Amino acid sequence: MNSHYSRIAGTGSYLPAKVLANRDLERMVDTTDEWIYTRTGIRQRHIAADEEKTSDLALQASRKALEAAGVAAADLDLIVVATTTPDMVFPSTACLLQTKLGARNCPAFDVQAVCSGFIYGLATADQFMRSGRFRNALVVGAEIYSRILDWNDRTTCVLFGDGAGAVVLRRDRTPGILSSHLHADGSYANMLSVPGTVCGGKVSGRPLLQMDGSGVFRFAVKALDDLVEETIAANGMQKADIDWLVPHQANIRIIQASARKLGMSMEKVVVTVDRHANTSAASIPLALDEAVRDGRIRSGQHVLLEGVGGGFTWGAVLVKW
Ligand code: UT7
Repeated sequence: MNSHYSRIAGTGSYLPAKVLANRDLERMVDTTDEWIYTRTGIRQRHIAADEEKTSDLALQASRKALEAAGVAAADLDLIVVATTTPDMVFPSTACLLQTKLGARNCPAFDVQAVCSGFIYGLATADQFMRSGRFRNALVVGAEIYSRILDWNDRTTCVLFGDGAGAVVLRRDRTPGILSSHLHADGSYANMLSVPGTVCGGKVSGRPLLQMDGSGVFRFAVKALDDLVEETIAANGMQKADIDWLVPHQANIRIIQASARKLGMSMEKVVVTVDRHANTSAASIPLALDEAVRDGRIRSGQHVLLEGVGGGFTWGAVLVKW
């Protein structure tokens, strides 16, 4: 039997200083605070400063997670960054983060699974840890969506924000991460995408986010329902055994539907969408860090992390804290 598992030893997060409230958006596009709040639960989002890069946001969140875990950057054996908004085509944001942290030699790579990116990154790092050859891993979700939004399109620009969240995994004899469940279906690629790419020194295709909002909504609710069933069955647990749900923060109505499926009161669901909006790969670790630091999530509790996003991709990780 495998005797190597990973445990989340520390969390951290970072939000850029600038706050953009729904009221500010009323002056930019034909929308209202009331429409945004009632349809999504969002009140405001954070926006990165011009000079800030995704790796800078990742750096701030990572430093806090390392400090909380009591792990030095030099002792990291693995760095995984989940992002859809990398600093550049290459090197990966994970490599850029590695050098900013002052870490060296450990493998570092990016995971691209859009809003499920952190779940994919955590599941990937957990597999490395289970090999027994890695002691400390850093998993980060970091995004600057404000740079891939069409700020004239009210159907998308009101939904997203910037930020970063990070966790440090430590090898342990007991889990930790109990199970992870990943899925993708690329036939939905056109429903949520940024189709632009770099070609011959120019941008080819539109490098801005486009989405069939109601199609994504329907898919997300169904995918998250299925994930709950799959995760609970795989662990021989009952829905009532889940102490906390930390879902991807896209829309409060999607989150409420997921909580209903679990028969869970919203008091057991970590919600940050009102203040952060959808920060894609950063949303789950941002929410997790908040609930760990304010003392809601405690030792011995079962925490279900779940997300769905472009690709489509979707996945869940069940953690015993
Ligand atoms: O992380 C995964 C990525 N994304 C998501 O999870 C998003 C999933 N989808 C959603 O959250 C929701 O579908 C939205 C919030 C995007 C939209 O909510 P909805 O209840 O599905 O609204 P709708 O798209 O059906 O639009 C209703 C109306 C439309 O007007 P008409 O055609 O009925 O006259 C839109 O043009 O609301 C209009 N509308 C707006 N009005 C004011 C769309 N955006 C806005 C806006 N302000 N910002």
